[in-house]
Amino acid sequence: KRVALLISGGGSNMVALADSMTGDHPARPVLVLANDPEAGGLAKAAARGIPVAVVDHRPFKGDRAAFEAELVKPILAAGADIVCLAGFMRVLTAGFVNRFAGRMLNIHPSLLPKYPGLHTHQRAIDAGDTKAGCTVHEVTPVLDDGPILGQARVPVLPGDTAEILAARVLVQEHRLYPAVLRRYAAGDRTPVFLD
Ligand code: GRF
Repeated sequence: KRVALLISGGGSNMVALADSMTGDHPARPVLVLANDPEAGGLAKAAARGIPVAVVDHRPFKGDRAAFEAELVKPILAAGADIVCLAGFMRVLTAGFVNRFAGRMLNIHPSLLPKYPGLHTHQRAIDAGDTKAGCTVHEVTPVLDDGPILGQARVPVLPGDTAEILAARVLVQEHRLYPAVLRRYAAGDRTPVFLD
């Protein structure tokens, strides 16, 4: 399977995924695509010999369809079978998502269905939750919705700030996403639960 990885920033999830696709893994990374030319993940991808592309969203202002019409081109050119959103911070329209129905994944830093959207760690702390974590799900037109393919849980500890909790969750993201992709690329949608 040919995997396109979409990033917006440092790409630590992209690195974890790319570095997991070795040996008898049924997938290989064929593209790292960023919506920001300054995305730190681009250099990490290039250092791994993965083809990179940038489609800057800013020139398109609010015209999501025009941005996505450009964004889809390198994905199609790379012949991607699977698209992994990995710290990709742009909302995608139904038009784009539906082109990859059943073959686009995202990682979200909460235990969905709790806390879709942003500021997930602060919200968990403010709610007094004792558990937090991350979720890998299939992408559907509804933001941070879609069938759950995996979750990893961490404790919320007294004195946690959003930054401390985010760092604890990020470690688990780097375990969970590769575990889910390995199964998913083999056609197995059995959810992965890590504690
Ligand atoms: C992380 O906080 C992750 O939870 C979310 O995007 C952020 C950056 O991820 N998915 P990455 O380091 O760019 O993969």
